[in-house]
Amino acid sequence: MRVLVTGGAGFIGSHVVDALRARGHEAVVYDVREDRGADVRDPWAVARALDGVDAVCHQAAMVGLGDGVADAAEYVSRNDLGTAVLLAAMAGAGVRRLVLAGSMVVYGEGRYTCREHGPARPGPREAGDLAAGRFEPRCPVCGGELAPGLVGEDAPADPRNVYATTKLAQEHLAAAWARSTGGTAVSLRYHNVYGPRMPRDTPYAGVASFFRSALARGEAPRVFEDGRQRRDFVHVRDVAAANLAALQACPPTGALTAYNTGSGEPHTVGELARALAAACGGPEPVVTGEYRLGDVRHITADSTRLRTDLDWKPEVSFAEGMREFASEG
Ligand SMILES: NC(=O)c1ccc[n+]([C@@H]2O[C@H](COP(=O)([O-])OP(=O)(O)OC[C@H]3O[C@@H](n4cnc5c(N)ncnc54)[C@H](O)[C@@H]3O)[C@@H](O)[C@H]2O)c1
Ligand SMILES: [Zn+2]
Repeated sequence: MRVLVTGGAGFIGSHVVDALRARGHEAVVYDVREDRGADVRDPWAVARALDGVDAVCHQAAMVGLGDGVADAAEYVSRNDLGTAVLLAAMAGAGVRRLVLAGSMVVYGEGRYTCREHGPARPGPREAGDLAAGRFEPRCPVCGGELAPGLVGEDAPADPRNVYATTKLAQEHLAAAWARSTGGTAVSLRYHNVYGPRMPRDTPYAGVASFFRSALARGEAPRVFEDGRQRRDFVHVRDVAAANLAALQACPPTGALTAYNTGSGEPHTVGELARALAAACGGPEPVVTGEYRLGDVRHITADSTRLRTDLDWKPEVSFAEGMREFASEG
């Protein structure tokens, strides 16, 4: 199989390229980082790159939480205009198979249950609550405590920031493309991906990278809120394997199929900081109570569908992955 990997010089894309080549497939890297002419927004360059391609694995995007709305146009340009240009070129070239790097950010504030009112969907947390250290979202009906649960693919979309909005729009565009071309589209909604080659020291890097950089400077990792926010940390090699499984699967034509892509084993951000601090020989993390508006409190996936449909399972445990990640620093 010859696969065009957009963003193939990036963190996750480069592991997808490795995984494809390890299985004897041909991976064509398409990434502005490697070649300034390889921009997904350039229709002619994309059309040339699609020559002889069987499938596209679309990883290229501007990532991170961003800066409110100041960089909204750049996110929309790279992520949504870029996807639209790519899809139009695929339609023109007769390439019918797409795997998209989706994201759990499309779900917003996860899934909760109120003891009295059942399933609940709390709105964005108020700055006032966060400043006062009230981090847990409350039941919209009674204001009572909520128990966080696992998010399924059928959970309603609820993007809470510009980046999340562009990741959701990518899926909608891909679904429209699949309908009109009879193609197959799979969106792998990644959770928090970590591992070798994770970007470091950029405002867009993930939390594991921030913690590791602090530890490398001999500083304590600074844990926001109270450290009890839950995430699903999934290793980049497992994510690459999920991409391979999706590229080889036979998903329904004319539609987009979404798969949560997580380890299935939620951990708190505090646990992450402690695991990395232990692996680096300290110092111990400090919990600062700081917060970022737009961050969600808990977001953990139910990745059962990916396991059943695509016969995928994560191979790298949290403990093992974090030890390796710490030592790479
Ligand atoms: N890292 C995570 O935890 C995570 C979680 C959910 C989803 N994702 C998604 O996974 C994908 C890969 O993310 P990553 O973490 O590897 O980030 P990354 O920044 O390392 O990789 C993205 C790559 O895309 C390239 N790129 C950006 N704009 C481009 C353009 N217009 N044309 C061509 N190439 C372009 C960049 O040069 C970069 O190499 C993204 O779509 C991201 O939204 C990542
Ligand atoms: Zn309630």
